[in-house]
Amino acid sequence: MAITINGTPVDPPADPRVSLLDLMRDRLHLTGTKVGCNQGACGACTVLIDGQRVLSCLTLAVQAEGRTVTTIEGLGADGLHPLQQAFLEHDGFQCGYCTPGQICAASAMLEEVAAGMPSYVTRDLAAPARLTREEVRERMSGNLCRCGAHNGIIDAIMAVAEEQAA
Ligand code: FES
Ligand code: FES
Repeated sequence: MAITINGTPVDPPADPRVSLLDLMRDRLHLTGTKVGCNQGACGACTVLIDGQRVLSCLTLAVQAEGRTVTTIEGLGADGLHPLQQAFLEHDGFQCGYCTPGQICAASAMLEEVAAGMPSYVTRDLAAPARLTREEVRERMSGNLCRCGAHNGIIDAIMAVAEEQAA
């Protein structure tokens, strides 16, 4: 069964040991998704499967059969995604290596908040989820930035969340 990546059906690899990350980068040349630790610790390889964030280095390509994968190339296919624009405006990056993963993760994270999913630091589980800087920091804690651009990243995400709430 095909994997749909950014709207294009792709045959799964013959070798079931190939990760989704390697399929995308090595075979499809979708190099927007980055390789960092290659062991689930940094978030650089974050993509969306059926709208949910996953670490593509820890996901076998065959696990995505019949599902829809969206990478940074897909998010920005129709012009800059609001998060991409906000990262530009709020200095949400320096070298940019972590940025595709940050933006994919943030897009899913905002959906999680909209769906009312709590985080480890959510104090009132009965109240509608409110996106504070502390919440963004916790919810994005799986995406590391070696350049230390975290304050700009949080500013950018907060700006998009406020736009969406307006
Ligand atoms: S490369 Fe996948 S989590 Fe670091
Ligand atoms: S901008 Fe360089 S690692 Fe985040």
